[in-house]
Amino acid sequence: MEFAARITGTGSAFPESRITNDDLAQKLTKLGVETNDTWIRERTGIRERRLSDVENPAEHNSSLGCEAAQKALEMAGKRPQDIDQIIYATCTPDTLLPSTACWLQHKIGASRAWAVDINAACTGFVYGLAIAEQFVRTGQAKTSLVVGGEVFSSILNWQDRDACILFGDGAGAAIVEQVPAKSSRRILSCHLHSDGNLWELLYIPAGGSNMEVTPERYSQHLHKIKMKGKDIFKTAVKTLEDFAVRALKQNQMTVDDLDWFVPHQANIRIIEAVAKRLHLPMEKVVINLDRYGNTSAATVPTALDEAVRDGRIKKGQTILFDAFGAGLTYGSILLRW
Ligand code: UT7
Repeated sequence: MEFAARITGTGSAFPESRITNDDLAQKLTKLGVETNDTWIRERTGIRERRLSDVENPAEHNSSLGCEAAQKALEMAGKRPQDIDQIIYATCTPDTLLPSTACWLQHKIGASRAWAVDINAACTGFVYGLAIAEQFVRTGQAKTSLVVGGEVFSSILNWQDRDACILFGDGAGAAIVEQVPAKSSRRILSCHLHSDGNLWELLYIPAGGSNMEVTPERYSQHLHKIKMKGKDIFKTAVKTLEDFAVRALKQNQMTVDDLDWFVPHQANIRIIEAVAKRLHLPMEKVVINLDRYGNTSAATVPTALDEAVRDGRIKKGQTILFDAFGAGLTYGSILLRW
């Protein structure tokens, strides 16, 4: 029997520490790295970001995910025991074993659920939501928790000024519930794709099973991200446009049918370029990049949560999620709220 899936609750959580561009520039100067607020704002649109304190367990990835999930459950009117599955999208897990999803299950008390991590980097929440939708639509699960959470600061090389100014930490969550197949308020379509040939644009050389972190590799920062920013930028603009168009086409819609566009928040110039190509007014784009930077898998769910909670997103509206990330991975999801 076929059903449909709808997001019935959202939540988000961020670490307390607010680091402005000036704060960051000061920290980097001590490491001999030059940057400044004007450059970061003009080139990225970012004003500040939140960074986790690794010594504070309340700011670990799964703790942020747990707080976001609790808020999402509350909005949906559900309890942790109602959750059938937990899909945790992250590339900065608390530990490699067990999964961050299992840590979250332990912390939130979702005793009936099965739990798994997925890694699609910044596209992670979109992938996770698409996976949850399959289980819910086919009747395998009634209530799904999807989290996009990162402590991205843990994989940044603070001497790499191209990358370290971009990212922040945080988590966003969504409750996905089964609704009748004919419900108009549902996830309408999911489009996913990846291109492993582009692995070199954003990767971490060491720390996986094929390269141990030795003291020498540690000192060379090989356990931190390596990014080809300009190449990602160009690919991102093309693919975000492409995946938006795919979603609209499949649903026989045009850009005018969209009420809200919630893209991955990597750089305001990427988002503006995509909006321009789509002929989409920026007033319809949900942005939280200025205050949180690029929180990877958390950008889409946290931006969504903000727009739901401040009343911008209203019942019956049409929303498009659109993301890209390391892999490279791409994906879009169109839904009626
Ligand atoms: O979730 C996916 C993650 N990654 C991305 O989405 C990355 C996408 N790419 C970007 O956002 C941009 O390419 C960056 C923000 C990474 C870089 O911006 P850009 O406009 O492509 O700058 P650029 O690399 O062309 O550098 C322009 C100048 C260079 O100086 P010169 O050669 O013109 O003298 C850089 O050395 O800006 C310099 N620069 C900086 N200056 C101050 C680069 N980074 C910085 C910095 N502060 N942080």
